[in-house]
Amino acid sequence: MPSARTALASTTAPSIQADDEWSPLKAVIVGRAGRASFPAAHPAMIKATMPTEHIHRFLPNTPFPRDIVDRAEAELDSLAAILKAEGVRVYRPLAGIDWVAEGGYTGAMPRDGLISIRNTLIEAPFAWSCRSKEIKIAYGQMLRQLAIEDENARIVYRSAETFADNLINESWDEKNPWVINNSRPAFDAADFMRFGSTILGQYSHVTNQAGVDYLRSHLPAGYRVEMLDVNDPHAMHIDATILPLRKGLLVYHPYKVTEEALRAHEVLADWNLVPFPFIPQAPDRPPLYMTSAWLPLNALVLDGERVIVEASDKRTIEFYEELGMKCIKCPFKHVNSIGGSFHCATVDLVRG
Ligand code: NVA
Repeated sequence: MPSARTALASTTAPSIQADDEWSPLKAVIVGRAGRASFPAAHPAMIKATMPTEHIHRFLPNTPFPRDIVDRAEAELDSLAAILKAEGVRVYRPLAGIDWVAEGGYTGAMPRDGLISIRNTLIEAPFAWSCRSKEIKIAYGQMLRQLAIEDENARIVYRSAETFADNLINESWDEKNPWVINNSRPAFDAADFMRFGSTILGQYSHVTNQAGVDYLRSHLPAGYRVEMLDVNDPHAMHIDATILPLRKGLLVYHPYKVTEEALRAHEVLADWNLVPFPFIPQAPDRPPLYMTSAWLPLNALVLDGERVIVEASDKRTIEFYEELGMKCIKCPFKHVNSIGGSFHCATVDLVRG
């Protein structure tokens, strides 16, 4: 006879249950920009990771232009509405946060700070100290709610040891390619992609070995992290390098990763691996303050058949349709401008 508690648990819809990038999306977080601000990270970090032409803008107390942020907020609201209309349960963080006053960045990019693996949601130990309160401020209330909704949900908040801040190397070179050292665990969740029990990740200017070990130590039983060989001297976030569109089909950035490097991982050994076929062009306006133009790879897959893409990006739409996907179009250029696209702006909570 099951106990009353077991019976209740088995009928409750999970609030966190996802371990890949393509199974049918049932619940998702969509970020909010708030009063988004150029993140005031260490100058060496900015130089290592941000587009050269915009480095001079990353100063304390510098909001992104108001019109860009307002439009980004409206685009995020449209994305949330599209997902709801597709039958996905949508969670949003607190509205109207003044990130300039907080000395922070934005709540629009939750993928950097949270990763779901089966029933576990892990908060990333950000390398950028200006982001260290981001999840707590914008998402704290939501995380508590997720735990209340589902007694099987497990939330791993950052541990105290991950807040130490002597991470930055003033210089880096071939022997030591990253701007962070290994003095405390650091990773951004967007340096990892989930393929079921295998999680593929990259080392980067925000993800160190201690961070990878920390992530490994918090995984549910049966999950493992493998590190991909990526050629990217400015590496920060793997989600414009590889994009699994469905089980067995992955699109990749051919200047950053090779088919051989991908196929070296058993989980991809028999996949169809397709190089992205052209060099994406940045729009004239608004500027891409924080990323390259490879954001077409930063798409959100709904279920292995449907993918959300920037509404005006005809070439990418044509390419994904050739691969058998149905493209759902959403304008997102102003979100792109402040740091990422559909994958960055969301966290899938329940798939399958
Ligand atoms: N930092 C990478 C990933 C962005 C999502 C880029 O700029 O392409």
